[in-house]
Amino acid sequence: MINVTAEAYVFDAYGTLFDVHAAIARHRAEAGADAERFSEIWRTKQLEYTWTLTLAGHYVDFWTLTERALDYAFARVPSVDRALRPKLLDAYLELDPFPDARDALAELKSRRRRLAILSNGTPRMLDAATKASRIGGQLDAVFSVDAVRAYKPRPEVYALVTDGLNLAAREVVFVSSNRWDIMGAALFGFRPVWVNRSAMPEEYAERAPAQVISSLSALPALAL
Ligand code: LAC
Repeated sequence: MINVTAEAYVFDAYGTLFDVHAAIARHRAEAGADAERFSEIWRTKQLEYTWTLTLAGHYVDFWTLTERALDYAFARVPSVDRALRPKLLDAYLELDPFPDARDALAELKSRRRRLAILSNGTPRMLDAATKASRIGGQLDAVFSVDAVRAYKPRPEVYALVTDGLNLAAREVVFVSSNRWDIMGAALFGFRPVWVNRSAMPEEYAERAPAQVISSLSALPALAL
């Protein structure tokens, strides 16, 4: 295989740069003993809706799906007080970045790599999250699936990056903590790096990541 320099590093947003469980963590005491289960259901349903609607050929934006998934979580876990709804949604707009995100982006930027986000999030969500976390200044581009009205892992979503940055897929390192997103990125021809923060088992064996790391801190040192 011809060794092509990685021109750009493109990051998934939710779960990779931003901690999706940070919203409930901010209101942990009020949420009570079922807080973790509640947050898992919220995230799982949010993603399920993206897949099922895309399979059905239908699009509803990610903010609306985030609200619907939250309402589902309240219905499944009645011990969590519905009065938290507006607070959790506000927190979701300004999620904490993972502690390793800012330094990894800064290091890659200093090596003159182009940096971008490709996310299911709406432009408004991504704008709020990148501003609140102060990583927006490091990014050359932020791509939202909203432009093609379909969700990952549809190939036209990944094509937003190659079209937008005018690069071949093999020139792009795609970084995600979602193994199913890595599968889609590998199929598209990106160089996928799986951030396996919580030591999850391997899946989608026929579409393997090029590298697996447990933290974004390990990313700049990879030979890519
Ligand atoms: C995203 C989803 C996968 O940011 O969380 O695209």
